[in-house]
Amino acid sequence: MYFQQFYLTCLSHASYMIGSEGVACVVDPQRDVSLYLDEARARNLRIEHIIETHLHADFVSGHRELADRTGAKIYLGARAGAQFPHIPVLDGYQIRFGRVILRFLETPGHTIESVSVAITDLDRGEQPFAALTGDTLFIGDVGRPDLAPDLTPQQLAAMLFDSLHQKLIPLGDDVEVWPAHGAGSLCGKQMRPERQSTIGKERALNYALRARNREEFVRLLTAELPERPGYFARDAEINREGAPALTELAAIPLLSTEETLAAQSAGAIVLDTRPSQDFCAAHVPGAVHIALSGQFASWAATLVGLDASIVLVAEDAERVEESRMRLARVGIEKVTGALRDGMASWTGPVAEIAQITAEDLRRELSAFEVIDVRRRPEWEDGHIEGARLMPLDKLGVRLHELDRERPVAVHCKSGYRSAIAASLIQRAGFRNVANVIGGFDAWRACGLAESR
Ligand SMILES: [Fe+2]
Repeated sequence: MYFQQFYLTCLSHASYMIGSEGVACVVDPQRDVSLYLDEARARNLRIEHIIETHLHADFVSGHRELADRTGAKIYLGARAGAQFPHIPVLDGYQIRFGRVILRFLETPGHTIESVSVAITDLDRGEQPFAALTGDTLFIGDVGRPDLAPDLTPQQLAAMLFDSLHQKLIPLGDDVEVWPAHGAGSLCGKQMRPERQSTIGKERALNYALRARNREEFVRLLTAELPERPGYFARDAEINREGAPALTELAAIPLLSTEETLAAQSAGAIVLDTRPSQDFCAAHVPGAVHIALSGQFASWAATLVGLDASIVLVAEDAERVEESRMRLARVGIEKVTGALRDGMASWTGPVAEIAQITAEDLRRELSAFEVIDVRRRPEWEDGHIEGARLMPLDKLGVRLHELDRERPVAVHCKSGYRSAIAASLIQRAGFRNVANVIGGFDAWRACGLAESR
């Protein structure tokens, strides 16, 4: 049996391919599907089965394009109400090919239609050796229970408790756990960085599995739910219908300075995806900055939304394409242009953002309004005295609380989110914005005072 995990760091997303005797199954494919087609070709496998463990809310899945290009069948939990041709599966449904048996377990909780898949390799034994747990069981966490429009988080959390204790844990401690997401995903809140685990390890280490009863579990899971990004409901709907093929997207026109300015004044967002130091040194006034290096796509969908018309600024043509691909993976498809040759050919006005060190900030602390754009748990672990907590996903609706005349210094943990925030604050009309290089990590590394 062939078994492979494909991990997409930008979205903390894991998809899988299982193969045996010339046939393959792909589970939770990312939107661009050529990597599965290439892998199948290289291993002489024909993709005949595609499984969606649930209707994903945090990215657009490539199930429909992959099915169109291979003729494979799509399997999805019967409660999904999906609009495309598929096989609605119930508990116990099995797919067999070669020496492999894939058995579906209905595991509602993260969403109502969530399924997990127990994998048996007949060359290893009669019992499953692994489970694809989707967003039901993560490494160190379980799926968030607040994404269904017609069920409360409490109802879903109660279902999730039963799914974990009646379906997954009984598989046995040695059974491997392969989830659909890893640390950093917005579908959970405290995942560990590993990419694979076992039921036994999770029983020992996963806080959610240590809850003694359903009531305790529900309480634990529904306390302090992270904010639900606005695009989640939209992505789930796109996946219910099945997204159009990526090959249907038009080529990106390259724009001059004048054309970029015209697009911007017609409402387009100039999205600069270069490294933060390049952006801070010189950028198109009013540009939104999200560097490609971090969790670019989730932040773009959260902060820019799916409907904006976007003009990209990147270092080169390759990065323009990479930016566009990553945007398409979350459902942002209106990339209407890219600045030709990036900032190298820009002849319009230029904006910049000061970069200051932690030591600079400490020296001039009283001169700045210090904005900390991390999440509350990070803040509670230590912060700069006098700073204001404004998590990045809520920054836009809170800027009115600030005095526009006062210099602002923005920091996060290490500098990725603060550079995004600095661009948003400057774009909102603040003249004096500084980004703290290295963020709170640098502040702490310098041994500077912190409050709790
Ligand atoms: Fe999910």
